Amino acid sequence: MSEAPGTPESDHPTAPLLQAAAGREPDRVPVWFMRQAGRSLPEYRRVREGISMLDSCARPELVTEITLQPVRRYDVDAAIFYSDIMVPLKAIGVDLDIVPGTGPVIAEPIRDERGLAQLRDVAEGDLDHITAAVQMLVAELGPVPLIGFCGAPFTLASYLVEGGPSKDYARTKAMMVGAPRLWQELMERLARITTAFLRTQVEAGARAAQLFDSWAGSLSVADYRASVMPYSAAVLGGIADLGVPRIHFGVGTGELLVSMVEAGADVIGVDWRIPLDVAAGRVRAAREDVGPVVVQGNLDPALLGAPWPVLAERVREVLRAGGRVPGHVFNLGHGVPPTADPDTLARVVELVHAEGRSLRSA
Ligand code: CP3
Repeated sequence: MSEAPGTPESDHPTAPLLQAAAGREPDRVPVWFMRQAGRSLPEYRRVREGISMLDSCARPELVTEITLQPVRRYDVDAAIFYSDIMVPLKAIGVDLDIVPGTGPVIAEPIRDERGLAQLRDVAEGDLDHITAAVQMLVAELGPVPLIGFCGAPFTLASYLVEGGPSKDYARTKAMMVGAPRLWQELMERLARITTAFLRTQVEAGARAAQLFDSWAGSLSVADYRASVMPYSAAVLGGIADLGVPRIHFGVGTGELLVSMVEAGADVIGVDWRIPLDVAAGRVRAAREDVGPVVVQGNLDPALLGAPWPVLAERVREVLRAGGRVPGHVFNLGHGVPPTADPDTLARVVELVHAEGRSLRSA
């Protein structure tokens, strides 16, 4: 990472998130939550009243306000850009909506060559609202780093091909194995679009980048490596020159972690199904050349509803496991559920900051 004068890093050299991502030991264990903005916050529900999800993402003042809400409330060590993995697709004209309680819904699912015409490259001006929002946000955030993000090609393809959320990704996988040329073209286009979306955020001031391959865990290692990894690697490689840490996350990816690090991650995001030290050990055992493995995770979000003493002990368990790895960014294993109590999340942050450092042994 650049330490040259005038860069954000040298303005704020001690941001714990960036230190941990580089394998150094910050004064406190950094913590943020996937989906920390959103429906669990009453102040979010208030400002979103009468405005659709996608419309809200196109309004820089609103994006700034919503992104800042959890930062104000929780003393988290990072902000995550309020947007959605579908936003770049919307920006190039794909007819889609985000339906409350359901998720992304595509008007004309992509099933053949003809459907691919919906996916043109990002053009000059398409993402100006993203640049404006990130610049506005970064000016407000001060020392707290902003994490930019995008959906990985596979996770986006799953929505585009299925037409909406899916349990088994049957049509997506059928295309992947049955129509490899079509699949390749789809994935190449998505890699270019998402790389542009991510680059735009980092160039406007985001200081870390997360690739969400939320549904990659549904794949076998062989299929992941043959049909998905090259495109995720293209996205992660496509921002490598920008010098920000890259976080690579998916759900249920215990068997894919080595491949996901190989695709280009500086930090590997892990869900609750595998302890953080076991995750890091797997990567180290398979790839001695990757350098220090840094992990992000991995409290089971469902446990946020448990009585505090029980939950606190689980938070400490995550900190101890992360403490056996050279770098740990505390997070949930997936997003904050809409039903989560914000006061509970505030207590988790307090606990991570108060006890995290002393529970680290690595
Ligand atoms: O705080 C944050 O994490 C920042 C914002 C963020 C959103 N979506 C806002 C959002 C991020 C990082 C995402 C990424 C995203 N979107 C992913 C990857 C992360 C993951 O959870 O695995 C995925 C798969 C999507 C697609 C998507 N968008 C889903 C599944 C949903 C939920 C649908 C629902 O209503 O239950 C959305 C909508 C969405 N994206 C909301 C928010 C705050 C809720 C919509 C609302 O408030 O009306």
